[in-house]
Amino acid sequence: MEHPEREHWKSSLGFVLAAAGSAIGLGNIWRFPTLTGQNGGGSFVLMYIAIVLLVGLPLMYVELSMGRAAQRGPVGAFGKLAPHPVWKLLGYLFVLTGIVILSYYGVVAGWTLKYFWIALTEGFSRGGSGPFFESFTSNGTAQISFFLAFLGLTVGIVFFGIKGGIERMSTVLMPVLFVLLILLIVYALTLPTAADGLRFYLVPDVDHVTGKTFVFALGQAFFSLSLGMGAMLTYGSYLSPDSNLVKSGLIVVICDTLIAIMAGLLIFPVLGGAPEKSGPGLVFVVLTDLFATLPAGRFVGALFFLLLTIAALTSTISLMEVAASYLIDERGWSRRKSVLVMGATVLVLGIPSALSLGAVGGLGSLVKIGGNELGFLGLADFLFGNVALTAGGFLLILFTVFAWKRKNFETELYSGSTLAQAPRKVLFFLLAVVAPLCLACILGYMLFTGQTLG
Ligand code: PHE
Repeated sequence: MEHPEREHWKSSLGFVLAAAGSAIGLGNIWRFPTLTGQNGGGSFVLMYIAIVLLVGLPLMYVELSMGRAAQRGPVGAFGKLAPHPVWKLLGYLFVLTGIVILSYYGVVAGWTLKYFWIALTEGFSRGGSGPFFESFTSNGTAQISFFLAFLGLTVGIVFFGIKGGIERMSTVLMPVLFVLLILLIVYALTLPTAADGLRFYLVPDVDHVTGKTFVFALGQAFFSLSLGMGAMLTYGSYLSPDSNLVKSGLIVVICDTLIAIMAGLLIFPVLGGAPEKSGPGLVFVVLTDLFATLPAGRFVGALFFLLLTIAALTSTISLMEVAASYLIDERGWSRRKSVLVMGATVLVLGIPSALSLGAVGGLGSLVKIGGNELGFLGLADFLFGNVALTAGGFLLILFTVFAWKRKNFETELYSGSTLAQAPRKVLFFLLAVVAPLCLACILGYMLFTGQTLG
């Protein structure tokens, strides 16, 4: 389906903010500090940065170049750039991955709305966060309502398109997110627990660095940079040919990494050391309990959950855009109809996740993979948030090297760029040799151990 009037970003700053918005999400503010806490603090941070540069950045460039070259979402991009139609299947996998991630990510995002609301209206009670969290997550009606509310916000933005919806919201929300984070960090650093927290966070502990740490850092880099399922590809498809991909891609990667590291500067000083809980408990129980006791805790709690809501929202809109762009580009549907249909699909698919945290016992524990008991939400996250993203990244590399070919990729990436030959060679070496080796290791590890990164 030819769409000669394809919409484009209004400005390159708008694009960078939207792409950074996709990348910066619950993954940065909740998952990154948790993983850092469990995997040796500072040494994990260093390993993470190395992986982002060696594997994340080259793949970011692949996705952005593919999108801009094809001017289509994932399915159409593979259809247009690949010499063989079998690659289109990978495009379908990307769209499916986007839909599934949105279906459970939206449930957790709904919690941020609820917590923001509580902080604003009644505040948290001391010691009450654990029982509250349990009764909230096992209340099916509440889970579905807040999921629906968050999905409604997402649909409402994507409905208005690239310039009028996604770009406009991102240019407002991302600066707000940044200011909120700075304010919260300044507050956290004044607490008596700050010094211990910072020491734990920033001083490397090499004893903790194992193969597992490496796998966690790699999986986290993918999830956090929104790579391996076509989100960056789709955003890249709304770029016009004169945009500078080398620069924009680098800025997005730096912003995402910076915000993740900054989130640690907020969370660890508040905690005062290693987190005793991982997963949702860290933010929704431990931190929330602290907000009940700290000076100005209620106000700070409200700002913190607003920060989480904004971070999640700019990520869910990118997931929705991947799904909607399939119907728009490949089926020729109007944007409005596409967004509504995808919104309804995600809603239906998300219901079992929403009910798997206590509301419906049977959904709470479905399979046991490698010692981890996974419910519906956990299984969806393992299969799509972990395995599909890394597998998608691996296949994207194979596609670039063997099907699309180095020359076409580099022509697209470096059009309008003055980057010297030497770094171009290094980049291709990372993409064709280093990244696939790393990815093969992590995929094998995940599939054999069933280790998820949540
Ligand atoms: N990057 C987002 C985060 O860190 C999650 C995400 C993954 C968004 C994949 C889009 C695509 O929370």
